[in-house]
Amino acid sequence: MRRKIVAGNWKMNGSKDLAQTLVGFVRSRIASLDNGVEVVIIPPAIYVGDVIGHAGDELSVGVQNVGQWGSGAYTGEISAEMAADQGCQYALIGHSERRQIFGETDTVVAEKVERVLAGGLYAVLCVGETLQDRDAGDAEAVVASQVRAGLATVAPDQWQRVIVAYEPVWAIGTGKTATAQDAQAMHASIRGVLSEMGAPADEISLLYGGSVKADNAAALFAEPDIDGGLIGGASLIAEDFVSICRSVPANI
Ligand code: PGA
Repeated sequence: MRRKIVAGNWKMNGSKDLAQTLVGFVRSRIASLDNGVEVVIIPPAIYVGDVIGHAGDELSVGVQNVGQWGSGAYTGEISAEMAADQGCQYALIGHSERRQIFGETDTVVAEKVERVLAGGLYAVLCVGETLQDRDAGDAEAVVASQVRAGLATVAPDQWQRVIVAYEPVWAIGTGKTATAQDAQAMHASIRGVLSEMGAPADEISLLYGGSVKADNAAALFAEPDIDGGLIGGASLIAEDFVSICRSVPANI
């Protein structure tokens, strides 16, 4: 059975106060959920310690990025080992904002995935096409190539710590969501690519991200190949985030 995961990506938002109030609220509500969802909070790295302090056993914590190196003279960077040392279990890699704003290439993304897995964390590889790719009919090819490149260095015994988040770039922060059918089609395509790569594709959780809200989450999570979500804006609103976590059906 694949793990069901809802992860909140705070991006460059939050505060010590939010770490206390939101995490405390989510934790108290999650405790009573019986749908088996694993809930992950992914704050800016500087607040990881605060979030962990309030997360208890109910919530997992992750970082939004790590450097592609082990340690050394890389001012401003943090390593996968440091994230693990602080108690994180997850790391997002290759978010489209990292690719577009910070110029992360598929090669760098693959190096980071390698570091994250070597550090004992779960790697959440983010992939997704632009509107231009989609309009040109290239969406599946672009996403397949990001999956192949980003996961090129995964060793056979590391697949169990790989998660893929499909986030169409045109749906992130825009209020436009892929239809549940389109998202399902892409997730099925990604699972096919993973299978061709020799991965245990049926055991790998595939998350959808891109303007997931309390009112569209249930339709997305009802699809057979959508195993949860990566939530941006709505993860900063405690009640909405809890409602999204609650939308995961017990039988996926
Ligand atoms: P959004 O962001 O939910 O605000 O669209 C999703 C993401 O970028 O992970």
